[in-house]
Amino acid sequence: MLDKLQQILQEAKAKINSARTPQDLKAAQVEFLGRKSFLANAAQNIGRLPAEQRPLAGKTLNSVKKEITALLEEKQKSLQSQEQGIDISLPASPLEPAGKHPLINVINEICGVFEDLGFEIQEGTEVETEWYNFQALNIPLEHPSRDMFDTFYLNLSADKNKGKYLLRSHTSPSQIRIMEKRKPPLAVVVPGKVYRPDNVDASHSFMFHQIEGFAVGENINFSHLKGVLIEFARQAFSPETKLRFRPHFFPFTEPSAEVDISCLLCQGKGCSVCKQSGWLEILGCGMIHPNVLKAVNINPNKYQGFAFGMGVERIAMLKYGIDDIRLFFSNHKKFLGQFYEV
Ligand code: DAH
Repeated sequence: MLDKLQQILQEAKAKINSARTPQDLKAAQVEFLGRKSFLANAAQNIGRLPAEQRPLAGKTLNSVKKEITALLEEKQKSLQSQEQGIDISLPASPLEPAGKHPLINVINEICGVFEDLGFEIQEGTEVETEWYNFQALNIPLEHPSRDMFDTFYLNLSADKNKGKYLLRSHTSPSQIRIMEKRKPPLAVVVPGKVYRPDNVDASHSFMFHQIEGFAVGENINFSHLKGVLIEFARQAFSPETKLRFRPHFFPFTEPSAEVDISCLLCQGKGCSVCKQSGWLEILGCGMIHPNVLKAVNINPNKYQGFAFGMGVERIAMLKYGIDDIRLFFSNHKKFLGQFYEV
């Protein structure tokens, strides 16, 4: 009887395995566990065996029954999932090679250039208070960027001293965060996300990236700023790149300038990308305003500094000839795959 039980188990395994439909499975269940099955019969016959053989036969019978029941249940589950369109016997989809996002590549490249020039890389915080985003940067209450519609405010109760919480609208508050903790000399670049409630179109996004840079020390002047930015542009774009400083206004720097580079596509001759001007605006900069240094208890009579801020998406678009900012955030593999480094 023991041999026969083993044989039945093997037969049951083969039948259950080859079952393709719930009907096949039902038939196997009737055949091996049903009222007329060998197992049912054997259960009744155990009593007729010599007494010493009964325990082993009973035990074997039970374990064979258990095993067949388990096999039936397992197969039933797999048939059900196939019915629902999931074929668990199919091989998994192949893993596809991935790479860094083009914006991360550009951030790393730019920060790498500044690192070579002696700057350290730090991160700021994306949730800021009004004090860090505005006041400490000498941005007055009536400044247009303080308008409710020009900033994302968070639905949190305001800090007693530092005002309402908001998503930073630029990376400049990280100057304050770093200077309030550390003393000059300092030379730091801070890459990160910034937020503005702009309507999304080919050149605007409510979230984009900036790289802030600043240096503070004794006897720092505008020529240091120029030297650093000229060297940056030569290394980040090409050794022939020319720079143009146009006087501008920023509340947190004085004097301030906007900086253009000679057009990367036409080398300054004039084309559709530079709107025939030969120049592309890439950043804002200036000498840190004394009020900003005072806000972090640095004596402006002893220390001076320069600062600059640039938009990463804009630079990446110019560098790669991309004409729609939305592509960066579309998660399209066709677009992103072009920038993977092999
Ligand atoms: N924070 C400015 C913006 O978002 C950019 C900027 C301009 C940063 C001049 C600076 C600077 O550090 O000196 O528009």
